[in-house]
Amino acid sequence: MKHYSIDEIQGWDRFYRTNFVNSLSGFKPVSLIATVNKGGIPNLGVFCNIVHIGADPAYIGFINRPIDAAPHTLSNIRGNGLYTINHIHPAFISSAHQASAKYPEGVNEFDAVGLTEEYKVDSIVPFVLESQVQYAMELSEIIPLRMNNTFLVVGKLMHAFIEPAIISKDGFINLQEASSMVSLGMDAYYTTQPLARFQYAKPDRAADQIDF
Ligand SMILES: Cc1cc2nc3c(=O)[nH]c(=O)nc-3n(C[C@H](O)[C@H](O)[C@H](O)COP(=O)(O)O)c2cc1C
Repeated sequence: MKHYSIDEIQGWDRFYRTNFVNSLSGFKPVSLIATVNKGGIPNLGVFCNIVHIGADPAYIGFINRPIDAAPHTLSNIRGNGLYTINHIHPAFISSAHQASAKYPEGVNEFDAVGLTEEYKVDSIVPFVLESQVQYAMELSEIIPLRMNNTFLVVGKLMHAFIEPAIISKDGFINLQEASSMVSLGMDAYYTTQPLARFQYAKPDRAADQIDF
């Protein structure tokens, strides 16, 4: 393997460095986050830096870029504290990617990219109808990361919509059966295939494989 020092990496062209560093941390779960502004007009954004924070209470976080680069999702969440997260599937990958474009404030991004608003469970924020794994979040905390002006947005899970047939007996969700996608860098999308599940690992025995 070749060694790349941070001094060398910092000397690269900006776009090359962005692709390299964005890819280095690996494949990410990629979803559309929907919000609404004060006038009720919905916004969509593609987000891949989504992370499990805790299961009980159920907290999920995501990283929002600096406000100048990606203002709408964050300001809408600051306004009403609500958002939905919707997995992306191959059937609407182009429309989903288009939602990463910087549309002006007040543009209905569902209409702009050709996806369908779905309102349910009295949510003022739509879900993406085309998505097969949808969940609704209520804002808990916005944590500014001062070193690069990004934000960790943490929300509490309020509702989840998913086909029960893809949930295993123990609650594990077989997301590959919903064709939920992952992304790499800022522009590449992949589907997944299952390899193995293991027992909880303990120091005194080798963990056996378990069924999906
Ligand atoms: C594959 C992919 C992943 C992305 N992941 C993130 C992310 O995790 N956080 C983020 O702030 N922007 C991310 N973006 C960029 C946003 O989708 C883009 O800035 C979008 O317009 C959101 O801006 P808005 O909130 O102003 O609508 C990603 C874009 C792509 C194509």
